[in-house]
Amino acid sequence: MSHINNKPNAPGTSVAHTTTPTRLLADLPGPGEEDTDAYYSQNHSYIHSLHETYGDEVVVSRKGQSVLFFRNPESVKSVLTSSSNFGKVWQTEGDSNTSETTDYVHNLLQPMRANSVFNMHGEENAKRRRGFRTVFLGSDSFAKSFRQEIDHGLLQWEQEGLGDVNIFQKTHNLIRNAIFVILCGDESPQVRDLVKDIFNESVNYFVERYKTPPCANSPPIVSKEDELLSNRTEIEAKKVVESFKAIVATSYPDGKNMPPATRTCLLMKMVSENYSDEEMAAMLVNVLIAAEEAVTSTLAQILQEFAYNPSVRNAALREAINQEQEILSGETGDLDYITNCALEGLRLFAPATLVKRQARKDTIVNNILIPKGTIVELCISSIHQNESMFPNSKQFDPLRSGLDHYMLGNEQLFMSFSGGERGCPGRHLALTILQLSISRILTRFDLKPSPSKPRWVNDSVPKFVVWPLDGIFLDLHRRE
Ligand code: HEM
Repeated sequence: MSHINNKPNAPGTSVAHTTTPTRLLADLPGPGEEDTDAYYSQNHSYIHSLHETYGDEVVVSRKGQSVLFFRNPESVKSVLTSSSNFGKVWQTEGDSNTSETTDYVHNLLQPMRANSVFNMHGEENAKRRRGFRTVFLGSDSFAKSFRQEIDHGLLQWEQEGLGDVNIFQKTHNLIRNAIFVILCGDESPQVRDLVKDIFNESVNYFVERYKTPPCANSPPIVSKEDELLSNRTEIEAKKVVESFKAIVATSYPDGKNMPPATRTCLLMKMVSENYSDEEMAAMLVNVLIAAEEAVTSTLAQILQEFAYNPSVRNAALREAINQEQEILSGETGDLDYITNCALEGLRLFAPATLVKRQARKDTIVNNILIPKGTIVELCISSIHQNESMFPNSKQFDPLRSGLDHYMLGNEQLFMSFSGGERGCPGRHLALTILQLSISRILTRFDLKPSPSKPRWVNDSVPKFVVWPLDGIFLDLHRRE
């Protein structure tokens, strides 16, 4: 294990929390060298095994640098909420795995465009994020259009054929169209097909690409091919931006009579703030990727749980039927139990499994001196499987306590969306889409285990996002 040569309480050290004598990284438990191959191939399972073996504060040596894993609530919250002490990083192997246009992101299947708000830091990022608040808090404006898109998508499910189906594939299409409402409002049916093929190509390509996990001798990098595909994706996304602008200019020349979803959507916001077409296209790509991967994964796994757990499914179905009129009229309804199913799904199946930060300066957290530059990793899956916080953690229990998508309002540590200034801005929208999708799917369809395939457990792409390699199969029938 590398030895850190910093003196406790050095001048300039930022103290986030302290009660007892300061510890050094070298004082913390850990295995010494990180098992790089296990980190890349077993991902969050490997980090969970470290926490189970060494406790809530673990240090490993990665290429000679100490890396910290935390899972106790105090330390996790300290790291996430002190953005002046800890900056965001998407990956930790240095610059070699990014390119000028494309960022490798550990907790997504696909890479991100490098020139968007979410790859900026400090005030540049914060001021833009503030500008998007109305979009990310726009559930009320989007709810009716989400519901319409979902119902339209469910009609397509029927037309494509029911029975023993890949529910992951179906869910993916449904969610992408709902996410497009956030991007382009009610104009999305006119523009989204412009990028349908390239996004399908991209997902399929990266599933294949990462099927074989990276390893110590071949760490993850953005290859030339990855970059070319990512560049082509942005070129196609720019066509969406141009079409959206043209449609808005023609349909609402004086800005009047714009439907609420169009008025609130991301591209409208960016048009009104004079963002360049390039930045709008990059933002469209990044938000679509960040949003659709996580929501699709969660929803498909919740549907699988319903198929195997009839008592939970029936309780959710009763509520969906009771609230149907409200939902059809464009409200999100009073979906307490379904909301809890969504939150419990987000806890148990947390699709983005790892959050990373880097100390901007020497900082003390929970009496540990964390030297400037140290990477701190917070493994969401391991935090959610911590029995001391979530007893019977492997059980799907929508009535358990501690399910709350405001991480910081909670003593347990529900953190599917991470937290602090760089936490997930889409969490409210994600929850609304999950609530509406669950209630509409249950009202229309009956879900049972697949007659041909066992329950899907863990054959996913070896990254820190849960994305099945060959789908999830269920028996799907129209409810009479
Ligand atoms: C099940 C649903 C979702 C989950 C579990 C999820 C989870 C996360 C997590 C863990 C992060 C990293 C936060 C960090 O580093 O602290 C993140 C970032 C992000 N998410 Fe989500 N997300 C979900 C849905 C969405 C949706 C629907 C949107 C957009 C409408 C969205 C947009 C973003 C963006 C733009 C970022 C980057 C934020 C930044 O770097 O400042 N996410 N998400």
